[in-house]
This record gives sequence, structure tokens and C-alpha cells, in this order.
Amino acid sequence: MATVAIIGTQWGDEGKGKIVDLLAEKAHIVVRFQGGNNAGHTLVVNGKKHIFHLIPSGILHEPTVCMIGNGVVIDPSVLIEEIRKLETNGIPVSGKKLIISPRAHVIMPYHKALDIARESRKGKSKIGTTGRGIGPCYEDKVARNGIRMEDLLDKNVLLEKLKIILEEKNFLFEHYYHQQPFSPEAIAEEYSAYGQKLAPFIGDVSTRLDQAIKEGRHVLFEGAQGTHLDIDHGTYPYVTSSNTISGNICCGSGISPLAINQIIGVAKAYTTRVGGGPFPTELADDLGNWLRDRGGEYGSTTGRPRRCGWFDATMVRVAKRVNGLTSLAITKLDVLTGLKTVMISNGYKHNGHVMSDEMPSQVKILEECKPEYVELPGWDEDIRSARRYSDLPPKAKKYIETIEEMVGVPVSIISVGPGREETIVLRKVFDNQ
Ligand code: GDP
Ligand code: IMO
Ligand code: MG
Repeated sequence: MATVAIIGTQWGDEGKGKIVDLLAEKAHIVVRFQGGNNAGHTLVVNGKKHIFHLIPSGILHEPTVCMIGNGVVIDPSVLIEEIRKLETNGIPVSGKKLIISPRAHVIMPYHKALDIARESRKGKSKIGTTGRGIGPCYEDKVARNGIRMEDLLDKNVLLEKLKIILEEKNFLFEHYYHQQPFSPEAIAEEYSAYGQKLAPFIGDVSTRLDQAIKEGRHVLFEGAQGTHLDIDHGTYPYVTSSNTISGNICCGSGISPLAINQIIGVAKAYTTRVGGGPFPTELADDLGNWLRDRGGEYGSTTGRPRRCGWFDATMVRVAKRVNGLTSLAITKLDVLTGLKTVMISNGYKHNGHVMSDEMPSQVKILEECKPEYVELPGWDEDIRSARRYSDLPPKAKKYIETIEEMVGVPVSIISVGPGREETIVLRKVFDNQ
């Protein structure tokens, strides 16, 4: 039996989708447990690129069952479109293949409008959200004002709830944001139609997972975003609105903390961030632009250019602690090929004081931190065809071993290209591998 979590260790876009797809070949079930369609997970299989926002990244493997847990926030129109696209590509998605928790909250049109209106009000101090309504949807969940997937199945129930919710929201839209109010009737009509389409997929995720784990099935938990976008442990307020760390797997899918066997942290060989917030190792120069071009660092969800910088071992050490990482998957090592030297930050200096295992909680202090770099020689050899560790040039190995040593977690996977096959697996993850 093996249950394995795949968690981002930085600010998202570490390549989680590729790693999940790779491991899903041997998994029976892949589960999303938090976040929503702010996520953009890219898979490249047989040269074809697929980007998933809500559908778990195991969907391309025929026997693998995909689940969307109660902790995910769902924009039903986005999910329906993803299902439609898969089916046009010849990948059938039945109610046996995809199971959606009735407890998952629904992103409503007023959540998206609020997200966008708030960001534009904030001006320069905006978070740089994806504008997908994620924050407002989680707010309503916590305020016990949310609409859940099960509510879409009964138009009358939905309408009654919407009438109450929109009384307050429409006041805000009309008198504070000076926007048109929302009609409960029109929303109930549209969203109950989505409910009809998604009804075949709705089923209890927690009991099915419990059963599968008891039967010794292999389960993958697919994290979205990254550790430093976590609402509690990230660079608040420049974070997303869910807990992105491994602890939330239990809350977001309804399983026991004792049921998780391995936790793989995915880390890019350098660092990127989309949106606002502190970024100690950022390269706001030609080298940063070079990394963005080489790595194709543009958001999979919004297309925004990603900010780029050196690998930050402190961030990943924090990720090791808060997630309990059992190994690391290092991605995009190929992007660094051709650099004369490569740098890794192994701590920060602030007012003469050195911090190495902790990131200051205050954004202002983190912004003032100066990274303490270790310089390593770069390599020129093309590494995209490497399939075994011994295929890597010595300087690339040294880079990986330095990360391993600094973070204090063994590396289990190295990714050297976007394709499924462009991977070096150092340690078996599932016993049937
Ligand atoms: P996720 O959100 O963590 O799943 O990551 P994204 O899909 O948003 O961003 C990762 C990007 O890097 C995608 O375009 C992937 O196809 C690509 N990618 C993943 N692994 C590698 C790799 O090892 N090398 C290169 N060059 N690209 C990679
Ligand atoms: P994946 O799963 C990178 C960022 C946004 C913004 C902040 C808050 O693909 O790694 P939100 O819309 O969640 O309220 O935005 O979080 N963000 C991501 N950055 N990858 C993601 O997901 C992200 N999801 C949210 O850019 O800074
Ligand atoms: Mg992404």
C-alpha cells in the first residue's frame, strides 16, 4: 500500500502536474484536495500539451480514477469545459472515472466579480490574484454562506439560498463597487443546469478513499499552488486562500493523517513567482529574463510572465518542515544548462543577523532580507536525454547533491524536460514501479 502526496515547495508552478502524471501510471486514484482553477497543471504526453485547472493530473491514464475532494472550490463551467475538451480528444470521462465531492464549494459569478473588483480597488497593493473568485468563495465557505456542489442538484434549494446570500452581496455591488446587482433567478437557472451536467460525477470521496486505502490501493494526492502560498504558512497576505500544505490533505479529502505514507516536495531547480509579494532571490535583470525565456515561465492559468530567481534553500527547508517531506522532485534542471555559474541561497541576512531555517513572518522584513549565496560551476552539456543519474554531467550532479544536502531530504526524481519521459527516477515511489 502506498499513499503519496505531491506538494509544491515554492510559490506554485513547480511542475507538480508533470510529476503527478508520471506517477499516476502506477496509481489507482489521484485526488485534488484544495485550491480551484487558480491552478494550472501542465502535462506533455507524446508531444501534446494538456493543461488542467480542476481535473486531477491522473486523467490521461485510462484505469486511474480521479477525485475532487471537499476542500476544492469548483467553477462548474470550467470543469464542464475541461471534461468536454478531454472527450473531444478521445478521452472519455464517466462517473466512474471522475468523482466529485458533494461537499466541495462552488465558485459563483459574484465571487469572480468580487475578486476582480477588490483587486482593482487595491491598486498598487493588489495581491495579483488569478481573478478566478478563489478568495471570495473560501470566505463564504468559512462564513457558512457558501453554495456546495450538492446545492446545484435542486433548483429550488439553490434559489432560496441565493436570495438570502445576494441580499447582502448586491448591496455591496450596488453601493460600494457601483456595479450591477446579480439576479438570483438567473444564477439559479444557469447553475442548476451545470448541476444537471455534473450530477453523474457526484459521489462521496471520503468513504471511497477510505475503502481504497483499506484495500491497499495506490493513491496520489495532488497539491495545488505551493507551500509559500499557504494561507497560514506562506508570505501572507501575498498568498492564496487555502492551506496548500500536506496537513490539509486530510481536511480536504476526508482521510486520516495516519493514512499518508510519503510526501514528495516538488521544487524547481530555480524559483518563480506570479503576482505580488516578497521574493528574496528574484533576478530583476537580464539573467531573470533569460530564465523566463529559457524556462517558458508564463502562467498556465493567466499567461502572466512569472518572476524568476535563484534556488532558495531556506524556502524549501521550511517546506520540508511544515509538510514533513520524505523526498524531493527537482524539476526544470535542463533550464539551467549553459550558465557559467549557478547560485543557491542558503540563508538570509537581516540587520547583520543570519537566518537559515526560517522565513520571517512579516513581509516587510522578508523584503529587506539579503540572500546568502553559494556559487557553483554551471554545465554546458544538453541533459534532456538523460534517463539515469549517471547520464548527468558531474557539475549538474554537484548542483543536485548540494540541494539535497542543504535541504536535508533525498532527491527521488529529477525532471530534465516537460515530457513525461524526460525524467530520472532515483528511488521507487510505488512498489509496483
Ligand atoms: P504546476 O502548476 O506545478 O503543475 O506547474 P505548471 O504546469 O504551471 O508549470 C510548469 C511548466 O514547466 C509547464 O509548462 C511544464 O510543462 C514545464 N516543465 C515541467 N517539468 C519540466 C522540466 O523538467 N523541464 C522543462 N524545460 N519544463 C518542464
Ligand atoms: P499551481 O497549482 C502559481 C497565486 C496568484 C496570486 C496568489 C493569490 O498552478 O501551482 P488566488 O487567485 O489564488 O487568490 O491568487 O496566488 N497563485 C498561483 N501561483 N501557481 C498557482 O497554482 C497559483 N494559484 C494561485 O498568482 O499571487
Ligand atoms: Mg501551475
